[in-house]
Amino acid sequence: MPGSRTLARELRVHRNTVIAAYEQLAGEGWTEPQQARGTFVAHSVPRPPQRPRRNGPSPVGSAGSAGFEVRGADGRSAGTPQGGLRPLSEGAPDVRLAPVGELTRAYRRVLRHGAPDLLAYGHPQGHPRLRAALAELLRSRRAIAADAEHLVVTSGSQMALELAARALLQPGDTVAVEALGYRPAWRVFRQHGAALAAVPLDAGGLDVAALEALAERTALRAVYVTPHHQYPTTVTLSAPRRMALLELARRKRFAIIEDDYDHEFHYEGRPVLPIASADRAGVVLYVGTLAKVLAPGVRLGYLLAPPPLPPILTALRTGIDRQGDHAVECAVADLLERGELQRHVQRARRTYRARRDHGVSVLKRELRGSISFTPPSGGMTLWAEAAVGIDVEAWAQRLQGRGWQVLTGRHYAYDEAVRPNLRLAFASYEEQEFAEAIGQLRAAL
Ligand SMILES: Cc1ncc(COP(=O)(O)O)c(C=O)c1O
Repeated sequence: MPGSRTLARELRVHRNTVIAAYEQLAGEGWTEPQQARGTFVAHSVPRPPQRPRRNGPSPVGSAGSAGFEVRGADGRSAGTPQGGLRPLSEGAPDVRLAPVGELTRAYRRVLRHGAPDLLAYGHPQGHPRLRAALAELLRSRRAIAADAEHLVVTSGSQMALELAARALLQPGDTVAVEALGYRPAWRVFRQHGAALAAVPLDAGGLDVAALEALAERTALRAVYVTPHHQYPTTVTLSAPRRMALLELARRKRFAIIEDDYDHEFHYEGRPVLPIASADRAGVVLYVGTLAKVLAPGVRLGYLLAPPPLPPILTALRTGIDRQGDHAVECAVADLLERGELQRHVQRARRTYRARRDHGVSVLKRELRGSISFTPPSGGMTLWAEAAVGIDVEAWAQRLQGRGWQVLTGRHYAYDEAVRPNLRLAFASYEEQEFAEAIGQLRAAL
């Protein structure tokens, strides 16, 4: 290395700066100062392979892509809207209505009383206060004989599905799914090596007779269902089919993974009780989320499972994440204990019902003859069928040019075949906004 005086002159910096830099290099093992001879590059420093220089040295960490084999990168989008497009099919709640003030106050309250304990490591199964509040909610509102000990709090229902898959599945197992359904769940089952089998749907929901025929041919490990408002068709699974499904699972000894993602948002009378409420055989794994009742960005879900699964699921959870965010869990428990979340849900339900009614009348007026649909009894979206002769794929494509993304039947279909359907989300937009979106949809047609 040049002498410190020489280098200081060359770089026009103070000599002490160079000395400090040399000391640091020596400290890190890059150089070896030798008494009275100067500073030398350490012998132990490996020589980088000689590569043709591009424009100057490349900065550290700029490789651009992984320097090793990457498996399982299927390259598909997870359904997030493409850049800049407004989603017209996403069944999300209107987060502008979320109870921000209540949540903020609850968070302050629980931290004020609960810190420092609340900030330490806690139980990976979920904070006992939230598990108790959720169990109470499931008992009082959904007629499920839920025990807080059998609940595992998760980061959204997605983690609940992941845990269920980890606990149940081995490569080669078969999981039955709805022929039109929720891809994020299918992806999880596939990631655990399951073979999926699609079961047809009709106006009564999942065709349980077809499932039975499948179960006679193939050993099923589980069936994944959305019985309340079937995703995406919004159909409610009929009572006889629920009973038949439970009986089939009991007889064939497979699990029913029941995803009850929007239970509260039913607009005609009371919500239909979950299959889990009638489970006497211990076959249902019940998946719930606070994505709709609170907000999807607050990552809270839960899994209710029969023994001996809860400690197994809890141990699996620690492999992903030591525990959830207990301060947030307690704040949400606080909202539930005070009934504030329930009051918010009542308000939101009234709003969404009015938006559904408005949406239905806008669609009937603007797209009469072009689409048909049954007004949904619940949920945040509507499942429309385009008239014969309309190319929904081209329609959706043209709508993109107008700044909106609508998803067609193909997007939800297990076989990915083109279907003449559109999913239209009414809950997350104000009436005026939805009317504008439908105006664009009509113009695109
Ligand atoms: C079928 C289904 N399950 C679950 C969820 C909620 O997922 P998460 O709790 O992971 O946000 C949704 C949200 O849209 C859904 O449509």
